[in-house]
Amino acid sequence: MNGKLEATNVCVEYLIARTGERFRALEDVCLTVNEGEFVSFLGPSGCGKTTFLHAIDGLVPVTRGEIRIDDRAITKPGKDRAMVFQSPALLPWRTVMCNVMYGLEIQGAGGQAGKQRVTNLIKLVGLEGFEHRFPNELSGGMQQRANLARALATDPEILLLDEPFANLDEQTREFMQAELLRIWATTHKTAIFVTHNITEAIYLSDRVVVFSARPGHIKKIVTIDLPRPRPLKLKRQVEFLKYEEDIWEMLQEEVAKMGMRAQET
Ligand SMILES: Nc1ncnc2c1ncn2[C@@H]1O[C@H](COP(=O)(O)OP(=O)(O)O)[C@@H](O)[C@H]1O
Ligand SMILES: [Mg+2]
Repeated sequence: MNGKLEATNVCVEYLIARTGERFRALEDVCLTVNEGEFVSFLGPSGCGKTTFLHAIDGLVPVTRGEIRIDDRAITKPGKDRAMVFQSPALLPWRTVMCNVMYGLEIQGAGGQAGKQRVTNLIKLVGLEGFEHRFPNELSGGMQQRANLARALATDPEILLLDEPFANLDEQTREFMQAELLRIWATTHKTAIFVTHNITEAIYLSDRVVVFSARPGHIKKIVTIDLPRPRPLKLKRQVEFLKYEEDIWEMLQEEVAKMGMRAQET
């Protein structure tokens, strides 16, 4: 059986309009993600993680190769996918409720059933009582909760998360990681999570996809064989620390390559 998502020999090049140059961001990426799986993309800054996520979302065209979801080739964004960005993409003039509702309204599904769904989601992400707040009246963590509810509102099959906790302080970030796992376990979505934080990738994932330095390709896929549900204190256990050490070694080589390249240019 094929996976939920199949990427085959994906290559992405950006055209730099100013100079006419082609810039290769991703090279020959092959990956299968199974239904309901939690997969992280881990790699040094600039290695093409966001590019690959955007290609999966249909925002960036692939230059070569193919990405299929449920055996259909992706050409543009669709209802089956939803993106959670690093900085919350909330509309500042709308309340939490209206922000979460927005995607449903666009789909013409903003009626009573839509309202009930949004109310349930707000509860699921732990924002009950804050429905009528505006984004600037929420903390960073709460904004990301609202952002998650917004992505879930249209009931996508695949959640694409691009460093959603990168701007949060360390304690909030850890707490939100645990919250994300709780929400993921409730909704059974397939999740693809981009991060450059090793601990975060291991803690969340069934598999961690380690990317090489630019042009990004997959260096290794590490299966995280740790039981779920995962309490935060799992991060202090020896099995966890072993994964951290192994992946750190892999990444160090790639970070060094990026550093060398930066000096050359
Ligand atoms: N729109 C674009 N045009 C040209 N180059 C881009 C564009 N977007 C990203 N890049 C380049 O592609 C490479 C990969 O970027 P990105 O996918 O954002 O990496 P990451 O998310 O891993 O930090 C980087 O070198 C970046 O500068
Ligand atoms: Mg990125």
